[in-house]
Parts: sequence; structure tokens; C-alpha cells
Amino acid sequence: MANSAIPTTALRSGRSMPTFGLGTWRMGESGKRRADEVAALRHGIERGVTLIDTAEMYGDGEAERIVADAVGKRRDQMFIVSKVLPSNASKRQTIAACEASLKRLKSDRIDLCLLHWRGSVPLEETIEAFSELAEAGKIIDWGVSNFDISDMGELWKMPDGDCAVTNQVVYNLTRRGIEFDLMPWCRQHRVPLMAYSPIEQGRLLGHKALAEIGKRHNATPAQVALAWLMRHDDIIVIPKAGSPAHVDEDLGALDLLLTHDDFVALDRAFPPPRSAKPLDML
Ligand SMILES: NC(=O)c1ccc[n+]([C@@H]2O[C@H](COP(=O)([O-])OP(=O)(O)OC[C@H]3O[C@@H](n4cnc5c(N)ncnc54)[C@H](OP(=O)(O)O)[C@@H]3O)[C@@H](O)[C@H]2O)c1
Repeated sequence: MANSAIPTTALRSGRSMPTFGLGTWRMGESGKRRADEVAALRHGIERGVTLIDTAEMYGDGEAERIVADAVGKRRDQMFIVSKVLPSNASKRQTIAACEASLKRLKSDRIDLCLLHWRGSVPLEETIEAFSELAEAGKIIDWGVSNFDISDMGELWKMPDGDCAVTNQVVYNLTRRGIEFDLMPWCRQHRVPLMAYSPIEQGRLLGHKALAEIGKRHNATPAQVALAWLMRHDDIIVIPKAGSPAHVDEDLGALDLLLTHDDFVALDRAFPPPRSAKPLDML
């Protein structure tokens, strides 16, 4: 088990989900790395991680197969998130895309299915497909990704649009724009945010402020970056780690309690937004 138990956050549907999980973007792209990727995820699961974030896009479906291999017989304890591409977002194609994901995941359900980003298909169609899939038990909950505040406003006005349980967006110390408007909107509407690229795809790790704060706590920069995100109990972090060592290090963030002085220092190094900015997307 992870040293500290992984907390959960409540969803609008009445269910809950873990606030720490593992990402899988860039997995399944190289046959040479496949065994290591399965091993990294499996190690996380053995240490108590139950949330895994994947997508039909990652490795052209191969990341979902890697998730299935890592999960093995432990499917019932897992919370699997996958995503439908906007090019597959019509009603018929969303249903077909989810069914193809289920096959690759070797599962009868996706715990949370997201629209990966907004495309040209009218949202109503995707919502209808998600509602039908949920009724059939093929997905348990659904949500969106890369939706800015205006997209959330539109979604909320649509029939069943307010059944979306999360919005997955880029959020880390170097990308704090959502704190100005999207985060307050989501909090007001009880929509926990999933923070993707929580360590800015590794680019945050060399930052001096993180090293200095880490030193005070005997923690690494990755752990400081993740613990900073987990200061909110309605933010879900999904770092991608390609080795057991990185999984262990990232899980160590659960044991790190940052102090008031640390938060002040981080605000100085990475100032919060003072005005609205369009949502970043990686
Ligand atoms: N919805 C969307 O549009 C969207 C977009 C981007 C990402 N995502 C999801 O969010 C997940 C996380 O985002 P991300 O993969 O973009 O970036 P990330 O988690 O911020 O960073 C991943 C990178 O950091 C490295 N890393 C992880 N832990 C480390 C540690 N303790 N020490 C040193 N390096 C470490 C990894 O290297 P190793 O592989 O060597 O461990 C990898 O190169 C994705 O995998 C995906 O599931 C969603």
C-alpha cells in the first residue's frame, strides 16, 4: 500500500473517485518500452493505486491494452478513465469508440469516460451517446476534458449536460490560469477537476524553488509539485510515471504536507493569475 491512503473526492453522481492516479500518455508507442510500462502501472496498483487515466488516442489504443495487462484480475478494485476523440464524438461513433475501448481494456465497463476535447460535433450528440452507454452499464460516469469556462456554461444548459462529473484540464505550478475562473466555476457546480501534466511533463523538475522547498522536507521536486496540487481535496492528480522508482517517488507526495511558508514561496515563484486567460491545452 501507499504509505498514506489515497483520498477520494465526491462526484455529482453520488459516487466518488480517488484523487491520485497514474496517467498513460506516450505509453504503447514503443514495443521496446512496453514491458516496463506494464511493470510501472502494475507496481502502482500493488502499492494501492486504483485510478488509471488512459484514452483511445494514446498509442493508437495500445495504452488501453497496456492498462488491461497491468490490471489483470484486479479489475474490480480499479477506477479506469478513458477518453473518446472529438473526431469520434457523434452519437454512433461515440458508442462504437467506447465499445472498442472496452475490448482493448478487456472490461465490461469504463468507470469514467471523457470527451477528450471539444470538436465540431454538437455536444448534444455526445451527451446522448454517453447517457445511452451509462444506461447500458458500459460506462459508469462521464465527463469532459479541455473545456474552458464558456464550454462548461454551454454544457450546463444542455439536457443532461449537468451529469458531467469532471473536467480534465492542464494544471500545474506553471499553468495556474484556471484558478481565476474555471476552478471557482467548477467548485461552485461541484465538478472536481482532473489535473493533467501535473509536473509539466517533467519540465518543472529542474526549478530552483521546488528544489529548495523539497530540501526542507527531504522531498523531491516532483513530490513538491504534486503535493501543491493536492492541497485541494477536489483536485485529482494523474502523473505519468514510466518506472517503479518514479511511481514510488510520485506516491511519496501523499506523505508531504507543505507549510504556509512553502505556499507563500511557491506563489512568489509561480504567481497566481490576476486576470482571465484562455485555457491552455497540451
Ligand atoms: N486530457 C488531455 O488532453 C490530457 C493531456 C495530457 C495528459 N493527459 C493525461 O495526464 C497524464 C499526465 O500528464 P503527462 O503525461 O502529460 O505529464 P506529467 O505527468 O506531468 O509528466 C510525465 C513525465 O514526467 C516524468 N516523471 C514522472 N514522475 C517523475 C519523477 N518522480 N521524477 C522524474 N520524472 C518523472 C515521466 O518520465 P518517466 O516516463 O520516465 O517516468 C514523464 O516523462 C497523461 O499521462 C495522460 O494520462 C491528458
